[in-house]
Amino acid sequence: MRGPLSKKKSGDSAAPSPEGSWGSIKLLKPYFKRYASRLAGGFFSLVLVDLLQLLIPRVIKYAVDCLQKGRAEPRLLLDCGALIVVMALAIAAFRLIWRHLILGFSRLVETLLRNRMFSHLLGLDKGFFQKNTAGEVMALATNDLSAVQLATGMGIVALFDAVFMGLAAFCFMLYIDPRLTLIAVAPMPALALLTRSLSSRLHGRFKKVQEQFSLLTEFVRSTFSSIRLVKAYNQEDHQGGRFARLGDTYVKNNVRVAVIYGALFPVSGFISNLSMLLVMIFGGRMAIRGKITAGDFVAFISYLFLMTWPMMALGWVADLFQRGITSLSRIEKLMEMKPSLSSRKDAPAVSIDRGEIRAEKLSFTFPGQTAPVLDRLDLDIPAGTLLGIVGRTGAGKTTLCHLLARLFPVSEGSLFFDGLDVNSVSIDSVRNSVAYVPQDVMLFSDTIAFNIAFGAPHSSGDKIERVARAAAIHDEIAAMPLGYETRIGEKGIKLSGGQRQRIAIARALLMDKPVIIIDDGLSAVDMETEHAIIGSIASYLKGRTCIIVSHRIAPVADAHRIVVMENGKIADQGTHSELIARNAFYSNIHRHQTSAPALGAAERGTIDGES
Ligand SMILES: Nc1ncnc2c1ncn2[C@@H]1O[C@H](COP(=O)(O)OP(=O)(O)OP(=O)(O)O)[C@@H](O)[C@H]1O
Ligand SMILES: [Mg+2]
Repeated sequence: MRGPLSKKKSGDSAAPSPEGSWGSIKLLKPYFKRYASRLAGGFFSLVLVDLLQLLIPRVIKYAVDCLQKGRAEPRLLLDCGALIVVMALAIAAFRLIWRHLILGFSRLVETLLRNRMFSHLLGLDKGFFQKNTAGEVMALATNDLSAVQLATGMGIVALFDAVFMGLAAFCFMLYIDPRLTLIAVAPMPALALLTRSLSSRLHGRFKKVQEQFSLLTEFVRSTFSSIRLVKAYNQEDHQGGRFARLGDTYVKNNVRVAVIYGALFPVSGFISNLSMLLVMIFGGRMAIRGKITAGDFVAFISYLFLMTWPMMALGWVADLFQRGITSLSRIEKLMEMKPSLSSRKDAPAVSIDRGEIRAEKLSFTFPGQTAPVLDRLDLDIPAGTLLGIVGRTGAGKTTLCHLLARLFPVSEGSLFFDGLDVNSVSIDSVRNSVAYVPQDVMLFSDTIAFNIAFGAPHSSGDKIERVARAAAIHDEIAAMPLGYETRIGEKGIKLSGGQRQRIAIARALLMDKPVIIIDDGLSAVDMETEHAIIGSIASYLKGRTCIIVSHRIAPVADAHRIVVMENGKIADQGTHSELIARNAFYSNIHRHQTSAPALGAAERGTIDGES
């Protein structure tokens, strides 16, 4: 799936409109302002380097003229040579300085922009990540940022050199002989035009390289994050083949770029040598006839050399800037994306301590769909209540949890926490009061301790151990050679499904929030462990509002109230015994899960009841 960041769907054509793309430079403005003095120092050194380079031909001219007039003594030639060495040393020193200041600036821009992008991405919601693959985001954070870095570093330097050095060399040449200058620079426009046309072709090809890179990255990510599936379905060769094909296209796209680069330098080298030929023919004749001195002739050739690079660089600069601007527009597009769920500007941050929840005619429809997944749902959960939610798969249980955890916007109906409309307070106010165990457990490729303490990073080892005991996972962790310091691999690949769920529960318990939502958090543990957890977390849940979604009856049987959801509505609610007595769906699943033959099945998984 291609998201808004991908160029094709977003309507970002191969050649973005100049206004649209150059406008994105505003993203860099703060950095230019912040590092203005650093840049000034860098350009001052660059000017000195250029001036010294421009003076060297004058020294050579002086030496050659002295030679020609027979006035040269070894001492004078030695002095000229020594002066050139001193100038070359100064050039090297100032070159080091400008490289440090200007290229260092471009690295700083890259880092700061990357940090900004990362913080911005953290603020975006699920919808964004459903539309944009991780590969696309990775391409932005790597390839696109380096293109911006190149443009703000070498790009600016090359542009400055092209303009300053090119013009200065041109002036020195004019000073020696205007007519010869015009003859010598006659092929130069062809050089600039050629590099320009080649670099515009380069632009389109470069975009294809970037696109392919994001496909490749995404493919690697998705393959390794589903490696168990790949192996279980024996798809290693197939995936390997797909990777090779993606890689082939990536190489082909890169080769198409390299072809242009390959043509660019030899062709421009040829054109600049044409200039040299013209100088040899016409300048040589002028020197022979004494219209210019031999020193002028030598200096002229040196200036021509100095001018050729800026002319060639012009094309290169155009390419660097084009790449940089293309990438910057892509980054800008990302930075302009707003989370679909954000606090009103004036929404205050409040502390929600009691955990009383009330939903009034709460509805939710997924974007682009017509049928609501939650349909005018009324629910009252007094503070400190243990509420169970059961219901057929697809009934809307997880969607309701997402709304309660403020992961989805509340746009139809109302939701109150401690009597406050959630839309009238900041999103963080609600999120800070909720510890949520999602149905699909998310673990980081880090240590077990890190994963448990994710919501409360400064927790002591004792606290971590206590919640791990409550989630009935401590013994298994302690049995591992590295205990809590065990690294669990990508998405917790080294753990069983039940272990992952219990780590997620321990994580939520550690957060010590007034509201705990556990969405099907015990589905992967055996019934014995389930009982152990229910018993041991009871003391943690006391006094808190706890919502437990479950396909099994046992975790909700002792709840103060159990809600039966059906098609986004509350079909029934009551205590366990009330529902057993009057609700067909509930009593059916209860019967299935407690009858002797079904116990084995329930051990293996979940049974949905029939009504
Ligand atoms: N991101 C989404 N976009 C569109 N529809 C969705 C999305 N997520 C869920 N749905 C749909 O919303 C409905 C309710 O899904 P939900 O996940 O809330 O069900 P559930 O009761 O939690 O089911 P289960 O017991 O299987 O976990 C389903 O029909 C599902 O297909
Ligand atoms: Mg669900």
